[in-house]
Amino acid sequence: MKLSLLSCGQALGKRVLDNNYFASYLDTTDQWIRERSGIVTRYWVEDESTLDLAAAAAADCLGKLQGFDRSRISVVICASISTDEAVPAVSAMLQKELDLDTDIMTFDLNAACSGFVYGLEVARNLLCTRPPGSCALVVGAERLSRTIDPNDRSSCFLFGDGAGASLWTLSAGKEDYFAAKTIGQRDMLSVGHSEPISMDGRAVFRFAVTEMSEVIRKVLAQASLPANAVDLYILHQANQRIIDAIMRELQLPAERFPTNIERCGNTSSASIGILLDELFSSGQLDGQKTLCLAGFGGGMSCGAILLKGHEIAERILDLCG
Ligand code: UT7
Repeated sequence: MKLSLLSCGQALGKRVLDNNYFASYLDTTDQWIRERSGIVTRYWVEDESTLDLAAAAAADCLGKLQGFDRSRISVVICASISTDEAVPAVSAMLQKELDLDTDIMTFDLNAACSGFVYGLEVARNLLCTRPPGSCALVVGAERLSRTIDPNDRSSCFLFGDGAGASLWTLSAGKEDYFAAKTIGQRDMLSVGHSEPISMDGRAVFRFAVTEMSEVIRKVLAQASLPANAVDLYILHQANQRIIDAIMRELQLPAERFPTNIERCGNTSSASIGILLDELFSSGQLDGQKTLCLAGFGGGMSCGAILLKGHEIAERILDLCG
């Protein structure tokens, strides 16, 4: 069985901040931030919680499926490193916010910026044990503006707030392919319970390029596909230069690597979901595309999932009949 995408949604923080915001109080410039990261703006919350962002993205996702029976949702996973509280989980509160059935499994997942990809792999495995037609809601939601050190000029400009939601079911077909890499390590990147993000940017950059290339090559090998058989590489949006480096590694053109890093910055677990929604909502996912989603982050963690020729339309008709 393979994952089949039914719908997507997103929500972004209400405040738009450009690079001059940071230049107004730090020794930095708009030009430096653009050149080193590709980021021009990012969205920060005003007073929205992580749950508010997750619920808005999930409502956007479900709202696009007219007639969809929400009782089909049996699994809700929220990937996040910036949940509002330890308990209740954001995903548990989504049951209430979205008026979902109560005989469902919900949990939050922390794999830093790899969380959305890990969430898909977990959802795929859980759906295999549930009745046909069951659906999983996989959300990535972050309020990173509350976890940065605003005076750390080497990292504070990178991060944004937002959520990406996606709804999946299983359809007949070959399995999807997944690869992960974990190197238990806190020196490169850490966020304490009461300490802000601390990061060795250069080391994280090297990890991202080396390990993300490796997990992508692994899923391609599992699927017996060359790199150019993947229509779209939907990568964690952390730095345009990291994406460019992966592009060079795989020797593929920029059209295969959609981005929104320039506008949204790095939203950790949410970034792949937000980008997926942009592609879905603009009609760029036609139900036949082969996708490779890959992320990396603290842990250190890294993961890629290859979705070979997913289907959208037929499943929507079945499930909304
Ligand atoms: O989701 C995962 C989260 N983390 C990441 O993805 C981070 C990955 N790493 C990066 O994105 C990049 O390493 C950064 C964008 C964070 C930094 O870019 P870089 O090209 O690696 O810069 P650098 O750290 O090598 O710093 C180059 C210079 C340094 O000065 P010296 O030592 O060459 O004199 C820094 O002190 O730039 C200086 N610098 C800045 N200058 C102006 C560092 N931050 C700034 C700044 N404005 N904001």
